[in-house]
Amino acid sequence: MASSTLICDTEPWKDLKEHLEEIKKTHLRDLMNDADRCKAMMVEFDGMLLDFSRQRAAVDTLDKLFKLAELCRDLVQAAHLREKISRMFNGEHINSTENRSVLHVALRASKDAVIQSDGKNVVPDVWQVLDKIRDFSERVRSGSWVGATGKALTEVIAIGIGGSFLGPLFVHTALQTDPEALICARGRQLRFLANVDPVDVAKNITGLNPETTLVVVVSKTFTTAETMLNARTLREWISSALGPQAVAKHMVAVSTNLTLVEKFGIDPNNAFAFWDWVGGRYSVCSAVGVLPLSLQYGFSVVEKFLKGASSIDQHFYSAPFEKNIPVLLGLLSIWNVSFLGYPARAILPYTQALEKLAPHIQQACLELVSMESNGKGVSIDGVLLPFEAGEIDFGEPGTNGQHSFYQLIHQGRVIPCDFIGVVKSQQPVYLKDEVVNNHDELMSNFFAQPDALAYGKTPEQLLNENVSPHLIPHKTFSGNRPSLSLLLPSLDAYNVGQLLAIYEHRIAVEGFIWGINSFDQWGVELGKSLASQVRKQLHASRKKGEPVKGFNFSTTTMLTRYLESWIPIENDISGYCRSCAPHCMVMLKYNGPLKDFPFLLKYTFEASADVPSDPSTLLPKM
Ligand code: F6P
Repeated sequence: MASSTLICDTEPWKDLKEHLEEIKKTHLRDLMNDADRCKAMMVEFDGMLLDFSRQRAAVDTLDKLFKLAELCRDLVQAAHLREKISRMFNGEHINSTENRSVLHVALRASKDAVIQSDGKNVVPDVWQVLDKIRDFSERVRSGSWVGATGKALTEVIAIGIGGSFLGPLFVHTALQTDPEALICARGRQLRFLANVDPVDVAKNITGLNPETTLVVVVSKTFTTAETMLNARTLREWISSALGPQAVAKHMVAVSTNLTLVEKFGIDPNNAFAFWDWVGGRYSVCSAVGVLPLSLQYGFSVVEKFLKGASSIDQHFYSAPFEKNIPVLLGLLSIWNVSFLGYPARAILPYTQALEKLAPHIQQACLELVSMESNGKGVSIDGVLLPFEAGEIDFGEPGTNGQHSFYQLIHQGRVIPCDFIGVVKSQQPVYLKDEVVNNHDELMSNFFAQPDALAYGKTPEQLLNENVSPHLIPHKTFSGNRPSLSLLLPSLDAYNVGQLLAIYEHRIAVEGFIWGINSFDQWGVELGKSLASQVRKQLHASRKKGEPVKGFNFSTTTMLTRYLESWIPIENDISGYCRSCAPHCMVMLKYNGPLKDFPFLLKYTFEASADVPSDPSTLLPKM
C-alpha cells in the first residue's frame, strides 16, 4: 500500500467507527456501575493515579485503540506507535518537513545515557550546558557575579515568546508556592517579558533597578521580531542607566544561534546553547527554562524537575500500552476527537499553582504545544486529511473555572475534561472550627465535578426533590460527559516535571496516530510574514507619509484609521521620572501634548511617587 495511506482508511479505524455505534447506546451512569471495568481503567505510576473510567469507552474500546496504535508500518504511515516512539528516542529525523530529530527527551536524560542525533551522542553536550548553568546561576545567586556597579543581581527578566516563554512561566508559577523552592527563591524575583506591547515592558521594569537586574534573552532563532525588539528595549534601559559597557554584565542569552547573540552585543561566553533538535514549544527542559529557573530557585530544584520529566520519558518508552499513561491519554484523545466528535478539551487543575498549565498546553491562541503541534490539515506526507486533527485546549484552575465556564460543560457543549488534583497541598491551611481544611474544601470539588458530568440529573430525580415543574428543564443535566482524573501525590519540582512530560508525550502519541507532523509549525510562519508586510507599511507611512497600499479594503480601512488617529512619532524625549531615576526609564518618542500620552508613559509614571505634569519634568536621558 502507498505510504500516503491515511489512518482513516485502515481496518482498525473502520472497526472503531462501527464500535462507536455500540458506545453511543451506553450511558456513563451505567458504565460506572461496572466495578471491573472501572478497575481496568485505572493506572498507577511513580506515585500518580490516573482514572479514566469516566471516558465514554468500554474495555473493548481500549483494545481496539491499541490495535489501531499497533498497525504495522508496511500498511500505513500513520500509527505503528511503538516504532515511532523508538524512532523519536533514537534521534531519527521524524520532523521530516524541517529534516530534524525530535529529542527533547535528551534534555533530561541522565549523564550516562546515550542518545544519538546524526551519529553523535548528544547527552554530553546537554550536560555541558547544564553544568555551565549550574555554575553561572550559583555565581549570580551567591553574589560572586555582580552587576556593573558592583551590586548583586537579584532580579531576572527573561525575554522570550511562545515556547521560549510559556513553558518556563508554567514551571515558575508551579514552583513559586512549593515550600522548598520558595525558600531557595528568597530575596529573588523572576519576571517574564513576552509581548512586544510596550505595556508589557513597562510592567516588567516597574520597580526594578537596572543595577540589580539581569536580563536573559531567550530565543531559539534570535530573530523573532517581538523578542528582539524587547531585547533592544531592555538593552537601552540598561545602557542608558549604567553605560553601554554594563550590557556584558547585565545581559545573557539562550539560543541556538550564537553568531546572532554575539552580533547583538552579548558576550558569547554568557550565551547558553541549545540545538535545532529541540522544538521551541518542547524547549522548557533546555537552557530556555533551566537558566531562568535555576537563577530563581537554584540548580538543584530544577534538576528535580528534570528528573520528574525523565521518569515519564522512561515510562513512555518502555511501559506496555495498557499501563502507559501518555499512550492511554493520547489514544483517548483520538477517540474523543476523531470518533466521538468532541473537538475541545478542558484542562482543569485543582491547584492554583498549575494556573499556567493550560496556557502552556494551549499556548495563548497563537502558539500551542498541543494546538501548534497537532493543529494540522495535512498528513506528514502532505495528503489532505479527510478528518479533523488537533484539539482546542483551554482551561482554568478549579474552582475558578466552576464559576465561569462550567455551566457550558455541564449543560451546553460536551467537552472532555482533564481533572488534575494533588493529595498534599503546597500551602496547607486549617482554620479551627471549619468543617474541613482549605485543601479538602478545594478537593471536594475535584471529586464531585467528574461525577456531576458523568451522571447529570434526570427529570425524575428533580421531581422527587420537589423541584417546581417549570424549573425542571433548566435543572436537568444529560450527564454522559467524559472526563479523566489524574491525582498527584504532591506538587514539587519532580511532579511538575512529570506532568510536563505526560502532556508532551500525549501530544506526540496523537500526532503519531493521526499520521501528522507534530513538530513543525508552518501556520505560525504565515502569520509572521503577513505582519512583516504591515510593519513595512507602517514605517513607510510614518516616515515618508506614504499612503496605505497593497492590502484588501478591510485592512486598508483599519490601517488608515490607525495611522490617522495616531500622532506621528518624531521627537525623542526619552528620560527618567524624577522620583526614581534611573530606575524607571521612560522611553518616550512622542511629540503630542502630555494629556495624550500613551498608556505606557502614564502607567510608568503612575507607578512612581511623582507624576509629572509635562514633559519638561523629565530628567534628560543620561
Ligand atoms: O511561533 C513559532 C515559534 O517559532 C515557536 O515555535 C517558538 O517557540 C517561538 O516562535 C519563538 O521563537 P524563538 O525561540 O526562535 O524566538
